[in-house]
Amino acid sequence: MSRPTTPVVVRDATVQDLAAMAAIYDEEVRTSVATFDTEPRGAAYLADKLAAAGGGDIVLVAVRGDVVLGYAYSSPFRPRPAYAGTKEVSVYLASHARGLGVGTRLYEVLLGRLDAREDVHTEVAVVALPNEASEALHRRSGFRRVGVLEEVGFKLGRYVDTAWYQRRRQPVDFTGVS
Ligand SMILES: CC(C)(COP(=O)(O)OP(=O)(O)OC[C@H]1O[C@@H](n2cnc3c(N)ncnc32)[C@H](O)[C@@H]1OP(=O)(O)O)[C@@H](O)C(=O)NCCC(=O)NCCS
Repeated sequence: MSRPTTPVVVRDATVQDLAAMAAIYDEEVRTSVATFDTEPRGAAYLADKLAAAGGGDIVLVAVRGDVVLGYAYSSPFRPRPAYAGTKEVSVYLASHARGLGVGTRLYEVLLGRLDAREDVHTEVAVVALPNEASEALHRRSGFRRVGVLEEVGFKLGRYVDTAWYQRRRQPVDFTGVS
């Protein structure tokens, strides 16, 4: 008889998650163009994002038991005040947790929480190419590819394009409201 599988849970990140989150991110820094960081950032970088969560941003982790599978967060798109209703979103998973729907789960919770906020109008995501999984995740999560910046990054010996994805806050459903 097979043992029951421990469920994947998506919850707000805590300081206890930071080391595992940093290990996931720094592996991407070293091995892929998914991030344009080129040197490992360690936990302090993510601690700053967690601290910003108190000011209106969201940092989520997906865990199975006490194993952090990945994380997703929102951050300000640009600092100038007129951009205040625009959030940038990002997601990173451990390599063993990919292709299993965990990224989709993280985005469902993250985007659902952003949709519930009156002060968030639209979300932007930047996908370094090629990244079929990330492009598919953004498409299925309601993002539209709005353009490509060519050769804006140079990493791992080559120039890298970025695809820009945008999602509009879901329209309010007034069905049944009189
Ligand atoms: C990109 C990433 C977050 C996607 O999360 P995931 O949990 O692997 O994706 P899911 O299993 O939820 O699948 C989402 C979609 O991607 C597709 N997909 C997943 N892995 C894929 C792969 N290796 N190649 C092509 N498509 C893939 C799925 O089929 C699904 O698309 P569909 O709904 O059209 O069928 C994850 O692969 C990852 O962390 N990659 C490394 C870091 C990274 O690239 N982050 C994004 C930076 S922009």
